[in-house]
Amino acid sequence: MSARIVVKETKIAPDDARREIVLRVFRFNAEFDVLPAYNDFALKVAQSETLLDALNRIKAETDATLSYRRSCRHGICGSCAVVVENQAALACKANLFDFADRYGEILTIDPLDKSLAIKDLIVDKTRFWESYRAVSPWLETPADDAPTQENLIAPETADRLNGADACIECGICFYGCPVVAANECFLGPAALTKTYRFVADIRDQAANDRLRFVDREKSGVWDCVKCYKCQESCPKALNPIEKIMRLRETGFERKTIGDSIASRHAKAFKTSIVKLGRLDETANVLESLGFFAALKHIRAAFAMLRKGKIPIGITKIDKLDEVKKLVKSASRSQE
Ligand code: SF4
Ligand code: FES
Repeated sequence: MSARIVVKETKIAPDDARREIVLRVFRFNAEFDVLPAYNDFALKVAQSETLLDALNRIKAETDATLSYRRSCRHGICGSCAVVVENQAALACKANLFDFADRYGEILTIDPLDKSLAIKDLIVDKTRFWESYRAVSPWLETPADDAPTQENLIAPETADRLNGADACIECGICFYGCPVVAANECFLGPAALTKTYRFVADIRDQAANDRLRFVDREKSGVWDCVKCYKCQESCPKALNPIEKIMRLRETGFERKTIGDSIASRHAKAFKTSIVKLGRLDETANVLESLGFFAALKHIRAAFAMLRKGKIPIGITKIDKLDEVKKLVKSASRSQE
């Protein structure tokens, strides 16, 4: 840890309205450094200042080598995403007083993924953009070379996009996703949200191809583990996991879902609830894996049986009819 660097003051508010904050900033230059370090920058900040304002002051007045991405300053371009106290945020929207109230006067600022740092807070987003490119993020519709009017859609039809068109590609959901970290094939929440954006657009003519593309094992919708991290962290409140679940439902509706362990598991889950009003896990395993594949787990199954971990003789619940009505009202597909 280097010595604290005091950033020159800029008069933007009376002294009594300011607060001294220390930004502990991740520093690393992939060209020269073996290990990263942190620099402490002490500044007096005004109530209106954001993290990006503070980084700009440090860069302009104290250390011109400090590197970070930014462009619009208004939460639109998505380039300034960083991690503040283990919480991903847009630097241009992160009010320093708010963060200091929550975490104290010393705030640690990291890149979205330390292992991908190129220089300080700048990360290599190649994989993010490759995933994005892989889902053909454009409208597939016959082009009219000389249109005489806009291709308008009614507001209620546009509502089906459910905000998915507002993604700013900041990458926060992608770099915070545990499946992205564990599985290099997974497209990630942002690319799947983009897929939903076009599947829900009535002008797009490639919706079924898109649904088949994201139905693939390892990369698509079935590999989401429903941890809800993307929902918690998206700065635009787009709820990417909701879009992923809608892609699954739409796939069943349009019959683009192929036969896989994941799709059989989803069907078996519903069958069990409709038949018994509760989950029959033994039947679910058999239907998802198939009888012969399930045989491979026979020793584990007997061990679990001995420990009482496999319920035997699951019976229907009372008021099964009520559960069936609920399932029917929540289902958009007949699968
Ligand atoms: Fe960022 Fe949200 Fe888009 Fe993910 S879905 S890239 S978190 S705006
Ligand atoms: Fe554009 Fe922050 S600078 S979103």
